[in-house]
Amino acid sequence: MKHIQIPHSRIDELRIEFDKHFPFFDDFQWQSNKHYFKKVFNMDQDSGIQTARRRIYGPATELVADSVKQFGFDKVERCYMKFARGYLPIAMHVDVPAHNLKEDGWSIMIPLTFSNNIKTIAFTEKVTEPIFDYWIESQDWTARQEKNNLREKFSLENAYYLKPEIIDYMEVDGIGEWLKGSVFCFRRSNPHCSTNFRTLGLPYKDYIIIQTDDRLHGSPR
Ligand SMILES: [Fe+2]
Repeated sequence: MKHIQIPHSRIDELRIEFDKHFPFFDDFQWQSNKHYFKKVFNMDQDSGIQTARRRIYGPATELVADSVKQFGFDKVERCYMKFARGYLPIAMHVDVPAHNLKEDGWSIMIPLTFSNNIKTIAFTEKVTEPIFDYWIESQDWTARQEKNNLREKFSLENAYYLKPEIIDYMEVDGIGEWLKGSVFCFRRSNPHCSTNFRTLGLPYKDYIIIQTDDRLHGSPR
């Protein structure tokens, strides 16, 4: 994981853009696993919005690209970028595209909600399995050594609700902070997840996500 700091004034500008676009968010991901709701959030619910998003087009593209220029990627303004509001902390997953599992790159996140209780945790494994749960099931977890004690510090039962303890056996690549001006990126093929901010009193988190393709945008400095 790589980190940069950007000015608070720029975050304020991005927040204005986010709010302007929010009424037009048109890309919704749903969580419909009722066992997950019960076990992770103690909610009696069958489904709910996981994330609401909107692709960034037009003048905002340049502003977002300029905000992350310190990383040193090429032509960021041509990357796939989205405004997003996450209502439910995401389970562990990878960001490699299902249509081309060999296409790797970096996921850049610009947090627009700030709290010490929100973290994005990336792990060092490289996974190109289209269904992430299949990768989890294919691992011999009993043969692994314990690698971290994150679950003592953070609420992470959302990472893999069937067996939250697998987190202990994964090596941490980095922890992204959700503090004003913090921006971070990690490999799209690295498993990552959020802390369970819902049970810590936060109803949602806002952010901008940018996805690079190594062949077109290169690597960070
Ligand atoms: Fe992701």
